[in-house]
Amino acid sequence: MNIMVVGGGGREHAIIKKLRENPNVKKIFCLPGNGGISSDAECFTIASTDIPAIVDFAKTHPVDYAVVAQDDPLILGCVDELNAIGIPCFGPDKKAAILEGSKVFSKNFMKKYGIPTADYEVFDDPAAALEYINTAKIPTVVKADGPALGKGALVCMTREEAVNAVREIMEDRKFGASGDRIVVEEFMTGPEVTVLSFTDGETVVPMVSSTDHKRALTGDLGLNTGGMGTVAPSPYYTPDVAALAMKNIILPTVEAMKKEGRPFKGCLYFGLMITTEGPKVVEYNCRFGDPETQVVLPLLKSDLLEIMLATTNGGLKDLNIEFSDGAACCVIMASNGYPGSYEKGYEITIPDDLRDSVYVAGAKLSDGKLLTSGGRVLGAVAVGKDLKEAVAEAYKKVERIHFGNAYYRTDIGKKALMALKEV
Ligand code: AMP
Ligand code: GLY
Repeated sequence: MNIMVVGGGGREHAIIKKLRENPNVKKIFCLPGNGGISSDAECFTIASTDIPAIVDFAKTHPVDYAVVAQDDPLILGCVDELNAIGIPCFGPDKKAAILEGSKVFSKNFMKKYGIPTADYEVFDDPAAALEYINTAKIPTVVKADGPALGKGALVCMTREEAVNAVREIMEDRKFGASGDRIVVEEFMTGPEVTVLSFTDGETVVPMVSSTDHKRALTGDLGLNTGGMGTVAPSPYYTPDVAALAMKNIILPTVEAMKKEGRPFKGCLYFGLMITTEGPKVVEYNCRFGDPETQVVLPLLKSDLLEIMLATTNGGLKDLNIEFSDGAACCVIMASNGYPGSYEKGYEITIPDDLRDSVYVAGAKLSDGKLLTSGGRVLGAVAVGKDLKEAVAEAYKKVERIHFGNAYYRTDIGKKALMALKEV
């Protein structure tokens, strides 16, 4: 079977390496991929948002199955377009991807079906939003309705910050049309847990839980990033919490999407906050998380392609999906300065014995050399019998990987280990 993967970061690299474990996988094409991915897949410089070019590629290459891994193409309807030319896909169609594509849709959906989440108000008029903020409870969270490269949620600790957030999103149009509507929501507190799940629209199978480290700098300081490291499982996702989340959030979401005539197929991402009132939804995503995938897939014992095909064709309930009992840690090595400006073009050296556990996000090949080309450059991943071992091993790997201007957080997994009382 030949597979086309749409996307080009560390998540896609992890997916491709896992798919390669199935002996029936012949070719993997990756659009656009990156210099690091090109040792595991044939990469083509086609932007993941250029749906006509992706469809054209699929028509002119022997593609049997497509894995649309990134949010933008899913929200734009890449799966619908590929299905229309007869290519089955892993990932939701446009109607279902709206769960990530519109915060207003997802908040109204949760309210309608009683799925626990922060209280909220929706505004399409900046004056009304500003008036509301005058008396709203502070802290508060202001969110652009549409996609905003993961930067559309502004946690505001003061009224002034909230006023500025509304102005930036609605008046200055920082995220363009994505900010035509906003959600202003209640500030929640508690540890955050990611639960990725496989679903064919009927059955839903949660994967091992994980947790991201979103701030740029050690000690949870600095700006929010796409994610500087992950561990799995999350110590906060205890069996009791998991049972509550399954009953009140995960099953009702899949059931309600079916009822809405928007059955969700693919990977449904539950961003949860474990509050004193129980788990609540912070966000849904319509795809695997990045860098959560880099710790979740290495713990998957079952065959990924078989599971993906079952989400597409149905029959997930008949599969036995197993994860190992161990733990995993991913430490992201970034270009110093990310998520602001940074220097790039430095040569990356990865020892041969680490290649299978390094997922490359931002690198290009030039004259046979791998050079840094992005903010997040790569993730070094280790699996251990427990979290302590996984974290220690991941950092040992990091010390053996080199490139100019490298930066990484030194505390990935620290909070989780403290929660386990191992530190
Ligand atoms: P989102 O884009 O909705 O995932 O939000 C990004 C990040 O902002 C989340 O991972 C949380 O850390 C934070 N956040 C979002 N909504 C809330 C909320 N209602 N209360 C507290 N923090 C939030
Ligand atoms: N790691 C956060 C995300 O994938 O959205």
